[in-house]
Amino acid sequence: MLDRPRKILVTNALPYANGSIHMGHLVEYLQGNIWARFQKFRGHTCTYVCASDVHGTPVMLKARELGITPEVLTAEITKEFLKDFSAFGIEFDNYYTTHSPENEALVIEMFQALSKTGDIYTKTIEQAFDEKEGLFLPDRFLRGTCPRCKSEDQYGDACEVCGATYTPADLIDPISVLSGTKPVTRKSEHYFFKLSKYEKRLRDWIDEADLEKSVVAKLEEWFDAGLRDWDISRDAPYFGFRIPGTDDKYFYVWLDAPIGYAASFKNLCDRRDDLDFDEYWRPGHDTELYHFIGKDIMYFHMLFWPAVLQGSGFRTPTSVFSHGFLTVNGQKMSKSRGTFINARTYLNNLHPAYLRYYYAAKLGPTIEDINLNLDDFIAKVNADLIGKLINIASRCAGFINKRFDDKLADALPEPDLFNALADASEEIAAHYERREYSKAMRRIMGLADDANRYIDREKPWVMIKDENQLAEVQAVCTQGLNLFRSLMIYLTPVIPSVADDARSFFGEDEWHWYCASKPLLGTRILKFKPLLTRIEPAQVDNMVEQSKRSAKDIFLPSAEDGAEPGMRIK
Ligand code: MSP
Ligand code: ZN
Repeated sequence: MLDRPRKILVTNALPYANGSIHMGHLVEYLQGNIWARFQKFRGHTCTYVCASDVHGTPVMLKARELGITPEVLTAEITKEFLKDFSAFGIEFDNYYTTHSPENEALVIEMFQALSKTGDIYTKTIEQAFDEKEGLFLPDRFLRGTCPRCKSEDQYGDACEVCGATYTPADLIDPISVLSGTKPVTRKSEHYFFKLSKYEKRLRDWIDEADLEKSVVAKLEEWFDAGLRDWDISRDAPYFGFRIPGTDDKYFYVWLDAPIGYAASFKNLCDRRDDLDFDEYWRPGHDTELYHFIGKDIMYFHMLFWPAVLQGSGFRTPTSVFSHGFLTVNGQKMSKSRGTFINARTYLNNLHPAYLRYYYAAKLGPTIEDINLNLDDFIAKVNADLIGKLINIASRCAGFINKRFDDKLADALPEPDLFNALADASEEIAAHYERREYSKAMRRIMGLADDANRYIDREKPWVMIKDENQLAEVQAVCTQGLNLFRSLMIYLTPVIPSVADDARSFFGEDEWHWYCASKPLLGTRILKFKPLLTRIEPAQVDNMVEQSKRSAKDIFLPSAEDGAEPGMRIK
């Protein structure tokens, strides 16, 4: 069916294993999941991998606080992640951990390759040290007075009041958030990666990767500011991989985290004869590699990561797709407002398909933030999924079930109308391909409007009263159900579980993208059950109330790990 079957490897950012999956994360995982599902559904060989990102200071401290090992802590958290992902239909071909032998081997291989080419050097630096806790403090574990606007109680690297960024040494009256004591300055030898050497090669990669305009603009800012060499080591105590030839130095979590993409794939290859690691990770093969990420981690994925890969003899990503941040009701997610909603709290109240559809209806290929307005969520899902889409089937299926012994007619009364849907196939596919999900959803819902208008015009519920028009009723309902079926096929990447139920209702074992272009005729359907029901506002109210109540969670600052700023130690 396809001109050229492609071999594609897709990744989602590795969730940091020190908290729960929330509605913001789901923007990331649903965007990637819809794309991977779409590629598979089109018949491409698409492998979709992820892992828990488990290393670093926040995990180490949280484990210490709970009196367990970081391995046990992150294994527990990973179990929760997988339950949440699976409930949302986010199914990876492999989900692994960055604390794995495969990852350690790859990290060391890359480190040694970079050392050989002279891209790694050591330098002694000064850093804030907490004498009571016995550890060097990441910037986010320091608080003090902003050197610019003099606001108190600001982070070690940035002021939330005036937006200034600075180094912890500039912070006035710094305090360790761990012990509350005043940190001292200590020297230590660190390993650096010569990012500055890679500017030209990175610019070339950025051109090839055909990055989105707003992303390129951001990268240009970084180039203008000058690429600084990257500190890739941390001192013990640290949860991570020890640097070969040292006793007390570890690789910084952000070095091994993206390598975790390759390690997760490697781990899968070892179980699968049809997948070859080198074909996807060494240069010179006809495979594609894409990373989905949030805009907060672009520096790591579009500068450090391609440079590390290049320098160590690996292939670079075909492209990196970046999305914006989630706001709820127009504001940052907030525990006190009940808009910091965990995936589990959502699932306790609402069907996952609602959110999958809503995010798809909002998502485009840019790094613009996306807003979840809870009233709009209810209105849009009810209007589109229930009022337009499911309604087509509800209006037609009953007649076929009750009056025609479940049997569809042998021909469509209006093949042109069906063909109009079939003809939209490649346009909709192109929207998915370019991550223009909102355009795809708008096009599909426009076609659903056409289908409903057709049924409104034919009025099977009037015709059914006339014994002479029975054949027409069967034909019209067959037409309506076929329109519904094609739309459901187009929506399969977005609402897979609902599409599965629809497929079973049609008595079919398998759907492919191209099935939308061929009508189903003369076969028997099953008894129709409503595939989704309307959202009741009370379900959303409950979710918000429950989110307020769970606002007491302990959150450590996630330091270097790119999660929400503003999370404090209890
Ligand atoms: N562990 C790193 C990623 C390492 S990838 C080699 C990390 N983890 S995270 O748990 O903080 O975030 C995981 C993904 O979720 C990231 O892509 C991040 O951008 C995304 N999001 C986290 N909060 C988000 C919102 N509020 N809104 C949208 N996406 C968000 O970063
Ligand atoms: Zn300030």
